[in-house]
Amino acid sequence: MPEEFLIAQNLYKSFNGQKAVDGVSLSINRREVFGLLGPNGAGKTTPIRIMSTVLRPDRGDVVVGGHSLKSKADAIRALIGVCPQDLALYPEFSATDNLVFFGRMVGLDGKESRAQAQTVLELIGLSDHCKGRVEKFSGGMKRRLNLGIALMGHPQLLFLDEPTVGIDPQSRNNIFETLRRLKEEGKTILYTTHYMEEADRLCDRVAIMDGGKVVALDTPVELKKRLGPPDRVTLEDVFLKLTGRSLRD
Ligand SMILES: Nc1ncnc2c1ncn2[C@@H]1O[C@H](COP(=O)(O)OP(=O)(O)OP(=O)(O)O)[C@@H](O)[C@H]1O
Ligand SMILES: [Mg+2]
Repeated sequence: MPEEFLIAQNLYKSFNGQKAVDGVSLSINRREVFGLLGPNGAGKTTPIRIMSTVLRPDRGDVVVGGHSLKSKADAIRALIGVCPQDLALYPEFSATDNLVFFGRMVGLDGKESRAQAQTVLELIGLSDHCKGRVEKFSGGMKRRLNLGIALMGHPQLLFLDEPTVGIDPQSRNNIFETLRRLKEEGKTILYTTHYMEEADRLCDRVAIMDGGKVVALDTPVELKKRLGPPDRVTLEDVFLKLTGRSLRD
């Protein structure tokens, strides 16, 4: 039996009476890459914010590594790394200083943090740009650093909210390769993207979201089989069929 590392039970969240998360339950196994897919506003970021302890649900609970969000949110925080949809970087710092700063925030001492920053810079392909101020970086370089920050402190579970959105192909490839390597290393990853082909290649299972609900949850191959032979159907076809919408508004 695969070990369930994250269990989200019946999550609800409304903003001003509007349901953003409408009864979401899902579980993620250890070493699994799990994709959350859905059109804009479907309710991908909000459950991620709840599962990563940033936002309190109106109802429901999340258990990560045996710790409940209700009583042990700090224990969950020690297990996770978060790459938020909106960049969370200090523009006036260098890439190294951003990584070292966040490393210290998650409890590494100065030496550990500097050593890990070097390893992460290599992984995300920014070693040659480690000293310049981040405000001078291209959008793709900032996205890579945003992902790198999530890796500081060796978290066991990564929440990656659209890590490849709106960037040049070179940075997208770099990030995709980084995700592949993290998967090979056995990291547990929850990942959102609008790129269906990326999700198909990377994810062990995906949940398709619409209107705050999970409308389908399975392996990419099983989802494709619902429409026809999996080698002739794309995940995008499944997405369009289930949500009736294109990937972007
Ligand atoms: N802090 C907030 N205040 C009010 N409404 C919010 C807030 N956060 C999210 N919402 C609303 O909740 C719904 C779900 O938002 P969410 O950000 O989870 O969607 P998403 O699938 O991540 O969208 P996107 O693909 O654009 O990132 C949307 O209608 C959004 O406008
Ligand atoms: Mg979002």
